[in-house]
Amino acid sequence: MSQLPKVELHLHLEGAAPPAFIRGLAKEKSIDLSGAFRPDGSYDTGDFWHFLKVYEAACTTLQSPEDFRRLTLAVLEESASSGVVYTEAFLSPDFCGGRDLTAWRDYLAAIEAAADQAERDFGITMRGIVTPIRHFGPEKARETALCAAETAGRFLTGFGLGGDEKVLSPKDFRWSFDCAREAGLRLTCHAGEWGGPQSVADAIRDLGVERIGHGVRAIEDLALVDRIAEEGTVLECCPGSNVALGLYPSFRAHPIERLRERGVKVTISTDDPPYFHTTMAREYDRLADAFGWDDEVFGAIARTSLDAAFCDAETKARIGKRLGDRP
Ligand code: ADE
Ligand code: ZN
Repeated sequence: MSQLPKVELHLHLEGAAPPAFIRGLAKEKSIDLSGAFRPDGSYDTGDFWHFLKVYEAACTTLQSPEDFRRLTLAVLEESASSGVVYTEAFLSPDFCGGRDLTAWRDYLAAIEAAADQAERDFGITMRGIVTPIRHFGPEKARETALCAAETAGRFLTGFGLGGDEKVLSPKDFRWSFDCAREAGLRLTCHAGEWGGPQSVADAIRDLGVERIGHGVRAIEDLALVDRIAEEGTVLECCPGSNVALGLYPSFRAHPIERLRERGVKVTISTDDPPYFHTTMAREYDRLADAFGWDDEVFGAIARTSLDAAFCDAETKARIGKRLGDRP
């Protein structure tokens, strides 16, 4: 299904780094990352908490704007080869100069320059969503929000929250989300992945987000599912990520189809593709196998994704043409 035009809303830039790319940087900088890889060269992902450790270890190799420029190009080339025409990537000032605003501006400029080049070379458009990391705590999230607020604009369009959903609660991050909202950023939050339906309800109530990262465990409370459907909250579903990390035993057991049938706006993303041995084309293939989804279903989901994208109207109209909208 690599030929269908796709819109991805949930992709961690560092989490999309090809393992060979990270190994190359580790070698250049003499960083010992041997524990992060399996003998076959893939990331040693394990369960979610092990995954976070390997992820953060891999990020220690990304030390300069130039590293992020190269990373962004590599990631967007790979996404474009899966048919992705528009992608929103989570960017973390924590890994880009340690939340220092001057450094962050340089990192962001390098990422944006690479995105512009990828648009010319590979025909993919990218926008950024700044994402504090929940288990780093609310104080660091505040510094991250200030970086985001100062750089909000055409390229940086959103603010989110990733990391370990089992620690702290959405309300601990209210200041950061209010700061981002006041700067004009659109809001999303990881919830309902490792936390249950209450975690999704809390993120909506306490942070006022319009999208939820994952959100799939809302299925455990059908009244909440109906509310999400009615209010039009969009779920950034990443089925391959959930199956790889053991949240569901198979694609067929994944709730994305039950959520869709009940009227929820579901979308399809890869999260951290090489960690989970996936790509957007592979997600489409596996969803088609599991649920019999055809081009019409995938076309409707791509349209839902574009409607929920955080970019400006002109960009949406341009991408819409690539999804088959009439001019
Ligand atoms: N950061 C990268 N991938 C993540 C995920 N699946 N959940 C939470 N935080 C993440
Ligand atoms: Zn994620």
